[in-house]
Amino acid sequence: MSVKNISLDTDYVKAQFPAFQDPLSSKWTFFENAGGSYVPKNVINHLNTFMTSTKVQPYADFDISKIAGENMDKATNLFAEIINADKDEIIVSASTTLNMYVLSNAIKGILSPGDEIIVTNQDHEANIGAWRRLEKDGYVIKEWKLNPINAELEIDSLKKLLTSKTKLVAVTHCSNIVGSVNNLKLISKIVHDHNAFIVGDGVSYAPHGFPDVKDLDIDFYTFSLYKTFGPHLGLLYGKKSILNKLPNQNHQFLEGEVPYTLNPGGPNHEELSCLIGIHEYFDNLYNHHFANKDISIRNKIEQVNNLIAKHEEIIANPLLDYLDTRKDIRLIGKNKIKNKNRAPTVAFIFDNKSSKEVSNELIKRGIATRNDNFYAWRCLKALGIDTVDGVIRISMVHYNTSEDVNKLIYALKEIY
Ligand SMILES: Cc1ncc(COP(=O)(O)O)c(C=O)c1O
Repeated sequence: MSVKNISLDTDYVKAQFPAFQDPLSSKWTFFENAGGSYVPKNVINHLNTFMTSTKVQPYADFDISKIAGENMDKATNLFAEIINADKDEIIVSASTTLNMYVLSNAIKGILSPGDEIIVTNQDHEANIGAWRRLEKDGYVIKEWKLNPINAELEIDSLKKLLTSKTKLVAVTHCSNIVGSVNNLKLISKIVHDHNAFIVGDGVSYAPHGFPDVKDLDIDFYTFSLYKTFGPHLGLLYGKKSILNKLPNQNHQFLEGEVPYTLNPGGPNHEELSCLIGIHEYFDNLYNHHFANKDISIRNKIEQVNNLIAKHEEIIANPLLDYLDTRKDIRLIGKNKIKNKNRAPTVAFIFDNKSSKEVSNELIKRGIATRNDNFYAWRCLKALGIDTVDGVIRISMVHYNTSEDVNKLIYALKEIY
């Protein structure tokens, strides 16, 4: 089924998110979604239920403890299906930064000093710093530099860095500043042809469409659930065959208990359990728009992904057009979204105004945004942008509308 003739029902979408009815949040036109998104009522309900009825240590033999454990397992299983992984290939911990840190410590155990690791300067620091730390242990760190003219990571530049000593490439699926979607499937193929591992950061990609990790053929993939309509957690996917080889980072007696070997401390129980609500929300979204109910969770996700992508393209392109035509604004990244080549995460700077000043003017007009380097300070440095004042970032998700964008464009015209 194609989404050609179906449009996202944004009234329905907004009705699922209590923030749009809340007196404090509903006054904002919210454009800071790449920082953290709102949550649908299903997530809040599951969190409340867990805290009210089953807030005990899970997996004991009395009913409330059993239910707590069952819901935690259910959430893990659902998320495995959502991203086309197996349930023992998923780790849910506090954040992506933490997941990368633990993963890099584990991977260190199966590499040898002198091995080469490639990181980019387009990534958020979470997928750079964890790998750069390994330099002190004798690993050689190389940098895949973005093209400073168009801000893109180019495949030819990667190819020049790969050698027989390359053991790992860490790269973002989508930059939280540039917004471009990097061709992770192609990059995976190139990296695997060199017998190296690939680690993808999907934090800025996943809010716009949950990935199919098997289709990407990626070895490790991370994203932050608090940006995909959930609580403050990070999800790490790892291929089982590789997880099995990684040294245990958890208690000694948990040796061999993959994937818990990569999750010291375990998950936050109530937050893990409320991920069921993200699945319910996406399932409801599917059922609201599509007739064929008899398809797999992953297939439903793909339909919803396409619906969301179509909507995001429609709302974000007028903003990109507007920014691109202004002579006093430097837009970072592509000036049009086409075929999911870019996320609606739009960063820009003014030639003659500080980003802080512009951001404050927008906030005065009810537009929630911010200026920052958003922890992608190497990216900003490479683009010659002040890393303290940073960029103004307008980041949208599918509950944003054309009215939101019109209000923003109107405000920008009014201010300057
Ligand atoms: C692209 C990207 N990667 C990684 C992270 C780090 O995620 P976390 O806050 O879960 O550590 C962020 C956070 O903003 C991000 O935008």
